[in-house]
Amino acid sequence: MNDGNRCDRPATIVIFGASGDLTQRKLVPALHSLACEERLHPATRIIGVGRTELDVEELREQLFEGVQEYARLQPHFCELWDTFAQRISYISGDYDDEDTYRRIGQQLTEEQQGNGSASDEEPPYRVFYMALPPKVVPTVVEHLGKAKLDGSPEHKPRIVVEKPFGHDRDSAEELNRQIHTVFDESQVYRIDHYLGKDTVQNIMAFRFANSIFEPLWTRNYVDHVQITMAEKVGVEHRGEYYDQMGVLRDMFQNHLLQLLTLTAMEPPSAFSAKMLRDEKVKVLQAIRPIHEEHRVLGQYEGYRQEPDVDRASNTPTYAALKIYIDNWRWQGVPFYVRSGKMLAAKTTEITLQFRAVPHLLFPESMELLPNRLSLFIQPNEGMLLRFQTKVPGAGMRTEPVEMAFRYGQQYGEDTLPDAYERLLLDAIQGDASLFARSDEIDMAWGLIDPLVESVEPELYRRGSQGPRTAQDFIQSDGRQWMPIVARGPEDWPETE
Ligand code: BG6
Repeated sequence: MNDGNRCDRPATIVIFGASGDLTQRKLVPALHSLACEERLHPATRIIGVGRTELDVEELREQLFEGVQEYARLQPHFCELWDTFAQRISYISGDYDDEDTYRRIGQQLTEEQQGNGSASDEEPPYRVFYMALPPKVVPTVVEHLGKAKLDGSPEHKPRIVVEKPFGHDRDSAEELNRQIHTVFDESQVYRIDHYLGKDTVQNIMAFRFANSIFEPLWTRNYVDHVQITMAEKVGVEHRGEYYDQMGVLRDMFQNHLLQLLTLTAMEPPSAFSAKMLRDEKVKVLQAIRPIHEEHRVLGQYEGYRQEPDVDRASNTPTYAALKIYIDNWRWQGVPFYVRSGKMLAAKTTEITLQFRAVPHLLFPESMELLPNRLSLFIQPNEGMLLRFQTKVPGAGMRTEPVEMAFRYGQQYGEDTLPDAYERLLLDAIQGDASLFARSDEIDMAWGLIDPLVESVEPELYRRGSQGPRTAQDFIQSDGRQWMPIVARGPEDWPETE
């Protein structure tokens, strides 16, 4: 794995779906922020491909609006937009038309020839980014192969594929098969944008760059683990997509299982794409098939009235699972994992609750709450460790207090890069560590597929903590969910 900082070689990034939402909101804003910080080679170029008939100035205008609204580093920050925009070209055409690919090939050759700093021995990196609905990807891949744009063995382009990677195990396998007829696995980068988040990568730094936490990170000390990914918003304009997917496919198969594997995996012996992904796969292999009784499904009130949603839909917008990992480290420790839309707050967090002390020495203590370590992934990123302390004064009464680390306080607000910045830079340079491998995808679907059959989900109030059954589900194990609350900077304990 590189340090992810800077790319010294020019790159040509071909974005399929260039006039779409993802390109405008995420990809180009991220590339612009990277360019502002001189983390891309100045001769890096973007070739947009899309079905929409636009001239290149119209596309640039559309992308400029996206950069102004969504980029971490906006145009006024570095005054680079005019130069940056000149490096964007556009090809409009049908994805099923050979001529589209002929023109892409021509454009690639022209750009490579016009690219003064690239020599024949060191041509620009080449990335094909599929910002496309999954069903279109095989067509594009097939045409890239036919047009011989899949590259020579020495200069292999990379292909980046967005989630969802299939909608179940069989379709993911089929998609892999289709992609592999043209690109080999080392060229394929499957995006899970959670892996690009700094605070997600920090799970590994926290665990493996400190010696005091890892010895406690086992069944001997951990009572249970909670992973929550709660959103305040509903399905917004994505009703059609969401109604076919539901929360288990949209969030669990990818983001939540990624967080779980990073939390539970063994330390890899080196920080390389292969070692890291091997360890994650071992966790997936050790997950016990999830029992129906260990699953709660919910749907927010009014979901069926959302645009493009079936009026009788049973698609869950909330799920909670109890997951067991059958290995030496985690045997018997439940991982309670939940995610939902239209909940009380937006928060992604991981909490390890430690076992209670074996013997109570201080009977005056009203509340001897067990130690708890929480990693807040977003928003208001940070960590909290709860422990008991003696209340000043007579007697030995204790109470729980918290020790905090907050990113904003330490590094300044808004310093965390957008996930796509990191992922794009890694894909350009050929570092696959933060991308899902085909066996990971396959195993993750294998766990989720049996859970998605249509059952009537329990309705829950908008802005609530989720369905009632989800509360009972954990309480019947004698445990409590962490409350889903917005945590603003003012809610953190003072550290100064
Ligand atoms: C996407 C899901 O992958 O992640 C969306 O399709 C969800 O439904 C989104 O809203 C959440 O991402 P983030 O980065 O806002 O937590």
